[in-house]
Amino acid sequence: MKRGEKVVLGIIAVVVLILMARNFWSIETTKVKDRGIPYYSTATPEQARDAMVIYDQNNCKKCHSLWTVKDLMESVPAPILDGIGSLHDEEWFYRYFSAADPQSIVPSRLKKEWRMPSYQQLPEHDRHVLASYMASLKVKDWYLEETRKAEYEKLTGKAYKP
Ligand code: HEC
Repeated sequence: MKRGEKVVLGIIAVVVLILMARNFWSIETTKVKDRGIPYYSTATPEQARDAMVIYDQNNCKKCHSLWTVKDLMESVPAPILDGIGSLHDEEWFYRYFSAADPQSIVPSRLKKEWRMPSYQQLPEHDRHVLASYMASLKVKDWYLEETRKAEYEKLTGKAYKP
């Protein structure tokens, strides 16, 4: 083997070793411990039960998923409601459910029959119970932060700095 060939082979060997080491390193550092389910509710069992009765009566699960439950026969791409109370407060939910035109609050690009309907006609009591329950649906900070980061990087292609 000529001297030049040995040098080239040597360089290739070093590069391969560096790549292997980097791979090994990233496998090591991505072993995070299981942090469990990030969603929880601050409502009492009674509040949750009352709200879920109203939720069922009004067919919310036709479009939304909550606690992994959704009507499997439907394919409406509505937002998942787990953790939604970390994004808005009770007053906001009450206003949203009471609005004649919910799309004036959350704009929609979906076809008409998929959009969030107005629940203006619902008794005030039911709107309050729903709003209070929605506000109780929280997501743990670490997961909210991870979701924000992933969303930001997907939308902008830039690295996220908190
Ligand atoms: C026909 C399908 C449909 C039904 C039924 C429905 N929603 Fe929605 N909802 C949507 C869609 C779609 C959106 C996103 C905004 C839009 O496109 O109008 C939405 C938005 C929301 C939001 C705001 C989410 C956010 O990201 O800010 C909440 C809260 C909500 N719905 C709760 C409910 C509750 C509670 C019920 C039952 C009382 C219900 N929805 C019934 C389709 C539906």
